[in-house]
Amino acid sequence: MNGGDGEQSYANNSVLQRKVISLTKPLRDEAITGLYRNSLPTSLAIADLGCSCGPNTFLVISETIKVVEKLRQEMNHKSPEYKIFLNDLLGNDFNTIFQSLDTFKKNLRNEMGTEMDHCYIFGAPGSFYDRLFPDKSMHFIHSSYSLQFLSKVPEGVENHKGNIYLSSTSPSYVVKAYNEQYKRDFCHFLKCRAQELVEGGRLLVTLIGRQSEEPWSKDCCAIWELMATDLKDMVSQVKL
Ligand SMILES: C[S@@+](CC[C@H](N)C(=O)[O-])C[C@H]1O[C@@H](n2cnc3c(N)ncnc32)[C@H](O)[C@@H]1O
Repeated sequence: MNGGDGEQSYANNSVLQRKVISLTKPLRDEAITGLYRNSLPTSLAIADLGCSCGPNTFLVISETIKVVEKLRQEMNHKSPEYKIFLNDLLGNDFNTIFQSLDTFKKNLRNEMGTEMDHCYIFGAPGSFYDRLFPDKSMHFIHSSYSLQFLSKVPEGVENHKGNIYLSSTSPSYVVKAYNEQYKRDFCHFLKCRAQELVEGGRLLVTLIGRQSEEPWSKDCCAIWELMATDLKDMVSQVKL
């Protein structure tokens, strides 16, 4: 994703993803409430996988902390120590995230009207298709709008008639290759997270799906067909 906060940045072009985060708030609240009530942790490790850089990164964390703070006040408990891990690929604009941390913490304190004694925020660069955290170290792992990205282009799809993803002209072997890659990636993702979560920990994942039976349905592939058309146009304009 484009870093920074310019016109073309992800920070200024992620309204759709923000809407998805808002829609899934009730599920997030339920997961974190169940977790807190069941285990009453004094230290809470939370990870957002594929956090990117922009307002959405901070939205997930602040909402999650607010839910816990409300609960712990109702139960008359001390504020837990928060350990927040922000994960994305190595090329993500972590610098901009870190530069915004002071403002984020100040705004959060103002919104909640209370001091959080201990809130530590860490960058966790790397692929979520690998292990990211030590065994049994995470209480809540969250990921929104990121797991539709595969770990790599499947092998054997090189002669794909000018497409860059599945399309209505994709032969069945290409559909199968993407399907197999997705199964491999997702199983591996789950195995890694299973090792990283504490007993009773929660994992909440939101990703793009489709309503149609067709693998190349416009629900998920339209944007990639448009992009393939643009790329072909650009290539045709290159003067050799
Ligand atoms: C569309 S953005 C979503 C960002 C944010 N979660 C949101 O909802 O606005 C997808 C993010 O997933 C990241 N991503 C893709 N594959 C990844 C991987 N294997 N490991 C970690 N992050 C990945 C991308 O770099 C990108 O920042």
